[in-house]
Amino acid sequence: MQEFHHDRARALLEHAEQVASAEQVQQAVRRVADELNQRFGNPDEQAFPLVLGVMGGAVVFTGNVLPQLDFPLEFDYIHVTRYGDEDQGGQVVWKVIPRQSVAGKTIIVLDDILDEGETLAQVKQRLLDMGAKEVIIAVFADKDLGRKKPVQADIVGLSLPNRFVVGFGMDVYGYWRNLPALWAISPEDLKAAQP
Ligand code: IMP
Ligand code: MG
Repeated sequence: MQEFHHDRARALLEHAEQVASAEQVQQAVRRVADELNQRFGNPDEQAFPLVLGVMGGAVVFTGNVLPQLDFPLEFDYIHVTRYGDEDQGGQVVWKVIPRQSVAGKTIIVLDDILDEGETLAQVKQRLLDMGAKEVIIAVFADKDLGRKKPVQADIVGLSLPNRFVVGFGMDVYGYWRNLPALWAISPEDLKAAQP
């Protein structure tokens, strides 16, 4: 069984097309860090933000961007996922909800990718409902769907075409979050490898 999974995970990459090299990925992270540093680097600013990483997809982005931020900050995480079809997205499920300490704070939400925007729309609303003062959304990537989304990102590292991508924290059926570059997987290959 184990081996079957192993092969399937490898097969998914066989016809995958690189959409951003590891270097381009790092440049995108740098751009996000620069924008955040500009916005929060003011020494007159009294209140420091609380950075929230959205697990699991944002784990790699978070780990790469945090050491590039040069202002005092607090860090915590939330865990939200959408289940349903891999390339369609389903209902938003909360696995770890925000702590009460978000109240009154400026929050920077870090996430891997803004796709349909359902996840981040709910995250933002929940944080505001809990009394967050301001919610700033910084995503590593924004998928161009050619239509308006229920939420906009304030800061975007990379704009991507509307394709299913893996790498830099983003997974396909649980695999390949560990890739340093971004790869697009075709709908046919997604279907063929479906668990
Ligand atoms: P949304 O609610 O449609 O914006 O979905 C956002 C979440 O779905 C992201 O945080 C990712 O975890 C996941 N996701 C969306 N598009 C992709 C993709 O192309 N590859 C892997 N995960 C994705
Ligand atoms: Mg996610």
